[in-house]
Amino acid sequence: MKVLIATEKPFAPTAVKDIKNVFDAVGYETVLLQKYTKKAQLIDAVKDVDAIIIRSDKIDAEVLNAAKNLKIVVRAGAGYDNIDLEAATAHGVVAMNTPGQNSNAVAELVFGLLVFAVRNFYNGKAGTELKDKKLGILAFGNVGRNVARIAAGFGMECYAYDAYCPAETIEAAGVHATKSQEELFQNCDIVSLHIPATNDTKRSINRKLVSQMKTGAILINTARKEVINEEELIELMDERLDLKYVTDIMPDADEKFKEFEGRYFSTPKKMGAQTAEANTNAGIAAAQQIVGFIRDGITKYQVNK
Ligand code: 3PG
Repeated sequence: MKVLIATEKPFAPTAVKDIKNVFDAVGYETVLLQKYTKKAQLIDAVKDVDAIIIRSDKIDAEVLNAAKNLKIVVRAGAGYDNIDLEAATAHGVVAMNTPGQNSNAVAELVFGLLVFAVRNFYNGKAGTELKDKKLGILAFGNVGRNVARIAAGFGMECYAYDAYCPAETIEAAGVHATKSQEELFQNCDIVSLHIPATNDTKRSINRKLVSQMKTGAILINTARKEVINEEELIELMDERLDLKYVTDIMPDADEKFKEFEGRYFSTPKKMGAQTAEANTNAGIAAAQQIVGFIRDGITKYQVNK
């Protein structure tokens, strides 16, 4: 068996070693394609492999077509919007993710970005504190729950809305459950996005919703750029000089957002899951899931059923 680790944004070297150890133990060969710049390199690398581990790397019909021996692709991470699931199914390829493995890393970055934002991006002027502020968590999945846990340490009051998670589960975590997204945006000083990019959520963070936020509000996005209606957010930030947007996923309109000096920040490259621990956890989980599937047919975490 031959497994390709295809990561345009590489894992930490220790994680690569740990992943390789999982495959060495069962006699699988590991090949590495890192920091590639052209899709042709990926297409070339997938030709004779049985399994692939990816991060945000795009696996579309063209890549799947080239991967004649491919049986399984595992996204080492949570969001799998970068895999064409229908094409994978059509090619008889199992697609999986590794939910929860990098969620603490993403949640910690939320607070790194938030302290930076409330202290005016360290421009020397007096900012504010996070303590006693109302934090809205949009979607109470693995990342959202970690955000709530860390927010408690900052002394923040947490609210959450999740269309798929019962209010009782949210309340049991010491978080106020709101009845709607609107209520979350209306009530909170800061809203942190943790929704996946789906047909329902794409461009759903729009003018109507964000305009309901309080004066001095901060919107923070460590989810996906696609969930933002960028044109409408730009319009709103043009009008509302109090509004800040901080993101770990550079918007398409980054140049325009940069004009909102002192109110906008984007990491140059998605950093949420970029820790040795997250890389190791997600990478090892991906490797074990590949072995589990190839050896024992285990399809837990399959996302293209
Ligand atoms: C995820 O969906 O797991 C995160 O967005 C991490 O993505 P990355 O592997 O590209 O850093």
